[in-house]
Amino acid sequence: MTKKKQQVNLMSFQAMKERNEKISMVTAYDYSMARCVSLSGMDVILVGDSLGMVVLGYENTLMVTLDDMICHASAVRRGSPEAFIIVDLPYMTYHLGELATKQNASRVIIETGANAVKLEGGSPGRIDAIKAIIDIEIPVCAHLGLTPQSVNKFGGYKVQGKSDADYEKILSQAIEIEKAGAFMLVLEGIPELLGKEISQTLKIPTIGIGAGRYCDGQVLVYHDLLGYSPAQFKFVKRYADLEGAVVDALSNFNQEIKKGVFPASEHVYYPIQDK
Ligand code: KIV
Repeated sequence: MTKKKQQVNLMSFQAMKERNEKISMVTAYDYSMARCVSLSGMDVILVGDSLGMVVLGYENTLMVTLDDMICHASAVRRGSPEAFIIVDLPYMTYHLGELATKQNASRVIIETGANAVKLEGGSPGRIDAIKAIIDIEIPVCAHLGLTPQSVNKFGGYKVQGKSDADYEKILSQAIEIEKAGAFMLVLEGIPELLGKEISQTLKIPTIGIGAGRYCDGQVLVYHDLLGYSPAQFKFVKRYADLEGAVVDALSNFNQEIKKGVFPASEHVYYPIQDK
């Protein structure tokens, strides 16, 4: 087990990129997950709106609310008081103008104790949202490529940036995002060549998920890498089979209750001696 480490900050990320040190990030959604992530020594926790799917059971991330994010991010902060935590701004919380965007981003920071927010997209409207949030001293991580909040626009979860035009569009959006002042960029579901070119072009670090081997860091969803969800994706490596382990343990518990094996005398207060 790796020991807890000191909190990283915005300067550390830039420095890590400069010295070619990969940045590690994983999602977490509650107190006990955050404790495990902290103990593992990961650099960053992302409270992703993927919680809509892996925790709340929605089909996509679009129904996740700001209150959902605040509730889960606060629990993550309690589980990991020293971590650098980024929280996703959910769908429609940064699309409706500067004031609403600033109010929503500041609620996340003030009510959860997180360090930064993340938002998806690189259109002119999203660039304005990035600038508005940075204007109130909140660091912004951007997110390009297969941005899950655009699932209806994309017609499904499809790799982005395959055509020349799309490739160039994502590359130029990445450059605009850096100019707008984002401190980090998540790249999701794009060809490795595009992940490499963006990572080499930008000074800010890129964090890949299904974006190849040349990003400055990597992120995966907690449930996917731990085998705690039925989903199977090409870009995911499974480091455990938590679903199998949990089902086995629960089956044992179930059977021991039925057989009267649990509780044994050691689990009982002042056990009766002759049972
Ligand atoms: O919501 C999320 O978990 C994310 C990651 C997939 C990057 O945005």
